[in-house]
This record gives sequence, structure tokens and C-alpha cells, in this order.
Amino acid sequence: MHEANRMKRLPPYLFTVVDGLKREARAQGVDVIDFSMGNPDLAPPPHVVEALREALDLPGIHRYSKWDEEIERNLRKAIAFWYHERFGVTLDPDTEVVPCIGSKEGIAHLALAFMNSDDLALIPSPAYPVHFNGIIMAGGILYDIPIREEKNYLPDLFSLPKETTRLSKLLMLSYPHNPTTATCGIDFYEQVIHWARDKQIIIASDLAYSDMVFRGPRASSILEVKGAIKHSIEFHTLSKSYSMPGWRIAFAVGNREILKSLAKTKSYCDFGIFKAIQYAATKALTGPQGTVKKAVEIYKKRSALLVDGLNRIGWPTKKPDATMYVWCRIPQKFSEHTSMAFTELLIREAGVAVAPGTGFGEYGEGYVRFALVVPEERIQEALRRLERFLQDGGARKGGRRPKARKSK
Ligand SMILES: Cc1ncc(COP(=O)(O)O)c(C=O)c1O
Repeated sequence: MHEANRMKRLPPYLFTVVDGLKREARAQGVDVIDFSMGNPDLAPPPHVVEALREALDLPGIHRYSKWDEEIERNLRKAIAFWYHERFGVTLDPDTEVVPCIGSKEGIAHLALAFMNSDDLALIPSPAYPVHFNGIIMAGGILYDIPIREEKNYLPDLFSLPKETTRLSKLLMLSYPHNPTTATCGIDFYEQVIHWARDKQIIIASDLAYSDMVFRGPRASSILEVKGAIKHSIEFHTLSKSYSMPGWRIAFAVGNREILKSLAKTKSYCDFGIFKAIQYAATKALTGPQGTVKKAVEIYKKRSALLVDGLNRIGWPTKKPDATMYVWCRIPQKFSEHTSMAFTELLIREAGVAVAPGTGFGEYGEGYVRFALVVPEERIQEALRRLERFLQDGGARKGGRRPKARKSK
């Protein structure tokens, strides 16, 4: 059986590779401290969990969800309410909101809805993997725009070759940014919309981390910019803000024509979201927001603990202003390693799993990412192991028998 060429062109999915390494280490008795995936470990708001329980007994709850049924209508209204509360953006719940089965699903289907084989998608690199893999899966042409630390990880759209811009159908943005943790101000979005004004281009903003800001101004929505809705849609997810990653619920909002095609594409692939989850998600978006604030405080504390610790043990790292990640350059003495080889070494030798920078695209090389989904005691333990590892100088860089503590 031959897989489609589109699929053959995909690199192995980063987290699958790292999962394999973790499994191997665990099979050898290593107690792996897992910072590899941005998979929140915190509890969702209790009233939301309660609402889910309650919903299971509602009449018709186990049937397919329908666009015009009360539960789905209420969810769309809740999304519009949330957008207005957070960003002051007014949306029509019936035409400018599309719930998704996670934003990863929505982003992949957006590419499928719009990319022809001769269309280019402009994707800043590094990026969250579905931003570029979604384009490859849809059979479009990927055009990486390198984003660099010295430019605050913002793409320079005005310097793109004219022909590239002409052939481009989609631009993906995402700030606060995974993996680099970079943020952007509304002025950046204003420039983007100014750049797009005479172009037929879709701007998709992935705002997964808009709540996760530790310092500086709040995150803006691109839809706050006048005229943005002509070109733009935005994705948000309940996975991070509300610690509901396994629930698979997110949404896209913005330009109604773009959303219509997204909804059409989805209608051929899925039957929407389990209604009990929609019911509970409505409570998450409209109810008390204390759990979100607490989660932000926890990630902020964890980031300070990890970054202060890394700096103390000789791994120079910057404190993130936002997200739930720490993005680190590979220490100088390991700079002959690719980010994948260094990740492998860290798992084998220190029992600490991170995500290699290249999992986020070519321009992630030279970096690794820590996801702050590990409680403070485990971060302390990871720092002790990393200190030993760095002191060893990766003496056993070839990665022989694991040295990390055995699990009990
Ligand atoms: C930038 C970004 N977008 C989307 C997602 C996926 O979110 P969801 O759980 O809604 O699919 C992630 C998950 O880590 C992410 O970092």
C-alpha cells in the first residue's frame, strides 16, 4: 500500500518521535520528567466539570450535534460573548463563529478548504506543527518565513519577494507564540492588515495563548484592527486557558466567507462536537474566570523557577513574557548536536524530556522547548538532574546506559 505523496512529504510527527524515546527510556527504568508536550496538567474549572456531568442526562445529548439546536447556538453565543469581553470585538454568532474539535483540527481543515496545489502559504518558522504540516497535508506549497530572536520573532512581510506574495493565499500568525514565547503588539497587526489591504490573502491568527500573558500588555486579537475582518479569521481553544486539552473544543471566528468554507469542509469530515462538551464549554466561557487566572499564575511561577534554575546551573535562558513554554538555545558545549540529538541525550542521560526545536520547523534548529506542565517539585528535580548532566559535560554524549534516576 502506498501512502499518498502528500503524506510521504510530512516529517515524522515530533511528539510521536519524542514519545518513542520516552517509552524506550521508561522501559529501561528511567523516571522521565516530561516537559515535551504542551499538554496542560492543571484541572479544568470545577463548575465546568460539574456541567459536563449534568449534561450527560439531558434529553438528546448523545445524538449528533446540529447547527441550529439550542446547545450549539448557545455555544456560538458564548464564544461571541467571550470575544467581546476579552477584546471588545463584536461577532455575529451565526455567521462569524465556527466551533472546532480543537484548533488543530480547525487549522488543518482551513488549509484543506483553501489550498490548491499551486497556492503558497506563508508560515513563519518556527511554528506550531499543524501550521506547516496542515499545508503539506492539503497539498499546498509551504513558504517558510524565518522568524528570528533579534527581530522579536516577527515576520517581515514587506520584504517578501513580489512573486511570492502574489501566489500566496494564506498567512498564518500566532502570538503569543509557540514555541518561542514571543508576543506582539496591536501595531504589528495593524502593519499586517495594511500589508494585506490590496491582496487576496487569508490571514489566520492562532490565539491559543492569549490568556497566558505574565507581564506587559494583554494579548490583542487581530480582529481589533479596523478592516481586519475583511481578510482574517482567528482560532482560539479551551485546551490551554481552561486546561481542557482532552475535551477537544476550540473555535474559529472572523470573516464569514472564510468561515463558511471552513464549516463546509468540516461538514464533510465530522459531525461537530459532543453536545455535553459544548454545554460545559459554554459555562467555561461565560462563567467565573478564576481558574484561568490561577493557571496563568501557576505557569508564571513555574517559568520563573525553571528559568532562574537554568541560569543558575549555567544554561543561559530568558524568562518568557507569555505562553506556557520556555524556549532555550542548546547550551554552547552541546552546540555540535542537532536539537533532536540533544533531546535524545537529555532523555537518555538526565531523564528529562523536552521538545526539539526542529519539531517546529527548520528554523527551530539550535533550540529546545520546555512545556511548563510539570509541578514545581518535579521542576526542582529536573534542575538537579540537568545540573549533573551539564557538569558531566555530557561526558557520555554517545548516550550509553541511562543515568537518570530509576522509577520506583
Ligand atoms: C499555537 C497552538 N495552536 C493550537 C494548538 C492546539 O490546540 P487544540 O488543543 O485546540 O487543538 C496548540 C497546542 O499546543 C498550540 O500551541
